[in-house]
Formats: sequence, structure tokens, C-alpha cells
Amino acid sequence: MLRYGKPVRSCICYPHTFAQLKEEAAQKGWTSVREITEAEASGSGCGMCMPYLQKMIDTGEVAFEVMLTDELKVFLAKEN
Ligand code: FES
Repeated sequence: MLRYGKPVRSCICYPHTFAQLKEEAAQKGWTSVREITEAEASGSGCGMCMPYLQKMIDTGEVAFEVMLTDELKVFLAKEN
């Protein structure tokens, strides 16, 4: 059961679902959030999708529970 009812499936600033980005990343050999952001812009708007992009890369999943503060801290720790 989802914490907030609906899974997070896409960047909201740019018209890309994580499923689309995962497929494109596989085709083009992108293995980092930076590569995805530079090529597709997702992540370069508000940046809220960046932790989800990292989780997509780490797990292969394309739909996620809304991340809570502690989960975001784990992502931010990886970035620094
Ligand atoms: S949600 Fe992806 S850049 Fe804003």
C-alpha cells in the first residue's frame, strides 16, 4: 500500500516518465543522473526528481513511493 496513494512516475517539470528515461538511458548508455539531466533536462528544473532518477538507476524501478526526508538525506549524502 502506498503512503500517499499515487506513485511518483515522472519528472513534473519536463514531459518525461521514469519509464521513458530508463529506456533511453539503456539505449544510450547513461548511468548517472548527471548524464540524464544533461541530455533530457529532467532534473534541471526544480530538481525534485533527481532522487527518483538516482533510485531508478540504482534499482531499475520506474514508479516510487514519495520519498520522505530521511530517504532524501541518503540521496543527498551520495551527491556530496
Ligand atoms: S521534477 Fe524533474 S526537474 Fe522538476
